[in-house]
Amino acid sequence: MLKSGMCNTGERTYSRTIAFSDIQYQLAKEDDKKKIFGEWCSVINYFNQDIPFELTFVNTTSLASDIDGLTCVPYKDDGRNDIRDEYSSIIKDKAVLGNNGIRRYKYLTFSVDADDEGAAKSRLAAHEAAILKNLKEMDVPARTLTGTQRLETLYTIMHPFRTKIFNFQWKWLSTTGHTTKDYIVPKELKFYDTYIRHDGLYSSCSSIFLPAAELEDSFLSDILSVNCCMTVSIHVLPVDRKKALKIAKDTYTDLQSMKIDEQKKAVRAGYDMDTLPDELVDSLDEAKQQLAAMKKNSEKMLIATIVIMNTAQSPEALKKDINIISSIADKAGFEMYPLRYRQEEGFQSMLPLGVNNLTCDRTLDTSSLAGFVPFTTNELIMPGGQYYGVNALTKNLIMANRNKLHNPNGLILGTPGAGKGMFAKAEITDVLLKTDDDIIVSDPEGEYSPLVELLGGQVITLSTKSGCYVNPLDINLNYDDEDPIAFKCEFVLSFCELVAAPKTGLDALEIGIIDRCVRKMYEPFMENPENAQPPILEDFYNLLNEQDTPESIRLARALEIYVHGSLNYFNHHTNVELNNRFVSYNFKPLGKQLKKVAMLVMQDQVWNKVSINRNISETGEVVKHTWFYDDEFHLRLKEPQTAAFAVEIWKRFRKWGGIPTGITQNVKDLLRANEAEDILDNSKFIVLLDQAEGDRTILAEKLKISDTQLSYIDNAAQGHGLIFYGRVVVPFEHEIPSDTNLYAAMTTKLEEVHKND
Ligand SMILES: Nc1ncnc2c1ncn2[C@@H]1O[C@H](COP(=O)(O)OP(=O)(O)OP(=O)(O)O)[C@@H](O)[C@H]1O
Ligand SMILES: [Mg+2]
Repeated sequence: MLKSGMCNTGERTYSRTIAFSDIQYQLAKEDDKKKIFGEWCSVINYFNQDIPFELTFVNTTSLASDIDGLTCVPYKDDGRNDIRDEYSSIIKDKAVLGNNGIRRYKYLTFSVDADDEGAAKSRLAAHEAAILKNLKEMDVPARTLTGTQRLETLYTIMHPFRTKIFNFQWKWLSTTGHTTKDYIVPKELKFYDTYIRHDGLYSSCSSIFLPAAELEDSFLSDILSVNCCMTVSIHVLPVDRKKALKIAKDTYTDLQSMKIDEQKKAVRAGYDMDTLPDELVDSLDEAKQQLAAMKKNSEKMLIATIVIMNTAQSPEALKKDINIISSIADKAGFEMYPLRYRQEEGFQSMLPLGVNNLTCDRTLDTSSLAGFVPFTTNELIMPGGQYYGVNALTKNLIMANRNKLHNPNGLILGTPGAGKGMFAKAEITDVLLKTDDDIIVSDPEGEYSPLVELLGGQVITLSTKSGCYVNPLDINLNYDDEDPIAFKCEFVLSFCELVAAPKTGLDALEIGIIDRCVRKMYEPFMENPENAQPPILEDFYNLLNEQDTPESIRLARALEIYVHGSLNYFNHHTNVELNNRFVSYNFKPLGKQLKKVAMLVMQDQVWNKVSINRNISETGEVVKHTWFYDDEFHLRLKEPQTAAFAVEIWKRFRKWGGIPTGITQNVKDLLRANEAEDILDNSKFIVLLDQAEGDRTILAEKLKISDTQLSYIDNAAQGHGLIFYGRVVVPFEHEIPSDTNLYAAMTTKLEEVHKND
């Protein structure tokens, strides 16, 4: 192996390996599947008799340290480490139990012949660029491996169940006189008739009789989705076009003469001369089609060898794994057989080196080989991102960072009880435990309080009984480029509109009066902001009365109930701590009218928070995001004054480091709102839980969901569904085990909530 990633595999043969990732295939729409299949055929057709290639698929165990790295939530000095322990172990269980800790890798190794390293290098480089380009056209993420990465890959394949990290440095070669091989091979390697022993492990190499006809395109992904340690390699040698055409023609001619023989036989026996064996008729058809395709160059003739190596820790486990694989092969109509007395050749050929020492070849054409579609589904694993359960297809963890999207705006949609709240609460927990970000929740049902308490946040229950007051006229002087008074003015305008003219809106005169009064009201405060008390609603009300115009009197009347009447809840100075990282506004106790006002007041608090955090982010070293959860989001979209806020944060929040999430069971209500298009188009993170039939149809159209994907949100279990992360769509299962403290603080099931009391 050379440092560059080129490997000298024979006297004049050199190879290189490209690692590539999965893309959405099994769940894609039929049209998209066809497209991907066609593109995959083009990837294969790029190769010719001078560039043999090998596809290698590796399922191997993760290192314990890798799993820890992914699942462990680092401690912080904030009194929440007990919860961190519980939370990490929830994730770790999923990482290990879901798929036995199996990780999956895909490689393409291609070889060229050359007289020396220099010639090999330039030849390989040219092909590498072309292959990468073809993969890129399919949107398949791919990269060429360096020498160290190729060694590590080989080491990983030969040492599953290991606990050590691969350790190697190029300079060791010159000082020790070792070769690269010495650093990767097993210490012990013994070949028997049908199995191999290496370092206390048991492996066995098998092959499969490949059919010439096209196969189910899910065959390979079915095999690879088995959670066992194995490597599947397919060696492919394209046949020279002239030779291939000749073979195809010969086959066709042979079949033709067989047909004539059969016809003669039939006539002699007194049958109709067209009574031919079905098999012969089929073969003739196939041969004819193949010949035609080859002439058009859309199909190539390929010689393929497939080798599978299973590895386990005991002979019994090995046998079990092999049985699973061979029954999948059976079902697809192939026979899998052990490479008797050829284990050593099997072992060599299984490695992604581009070396094929086996002779169990089979001639296929491009589309038959392409039938081994190596694609299943996208994975969403961004280490350090938030945890969102596991991929329903592969059981791999889902971790994603919403900040890496064009916009981090989110929606969580699902039928009542589908698990929207749970999903949001799990994300909140993750954010609180892993980052320094702040979280604000608008909680009209009062269901977040237990979680807020568990996580040491601040619940602000908006009710006279609770004695918690938030003064809507508190002013934040930290708005950088914006005039704080103007900002406040806008708030008071919305407030007055909501209470005095919700349907018609305010007229120009009224707006003028309000603006004047607001500026006047803050004058005493602005003179001495350090010590003065901010005004309250009553001050504003008094100023309105002083104006003594019909408009101002009318406005004052509308406000009266909020100052001196039964709705005077918002006419108090703030007496709660708003500096907590996690603040939840519970406005369940408020009546309908005050709820609307409360939403407006909250909006103001949200802007306050993001602007403070933006200042911190701009001046300090930490970036502090503000996550805002808006449960029962459809309520906000009902009133024009609050709906306007939703649109505004969906458009502008991102630039302030804000991450908003709307949560609602009413997809129809959401989409009926005038603002819906804006909000849906500007949400790059969408979580769909179980959906009612009508909503499913609407969403399928709006979000272009395939039928197979739709099945994941039709009668879905609680906490199961689809995540849209930008263009990536992943079916997920995000279960919070019910025996945890976190679950107890998150559940909304009546009997469980009361158990907590
Ligand atoms: N991810 C999950 N893991 C475990 N249990 C869940 C999960 N999601 C939902 N559940 C169960 O379903 C119940 C209802 O979930 P949740 O409160 O999140 O529903 P919701 O979608 O917010 O409903 P609503 O629209 O009525 O507010 C939970 O109390 C819990 O028992
Ligand atoms: Mg809910």
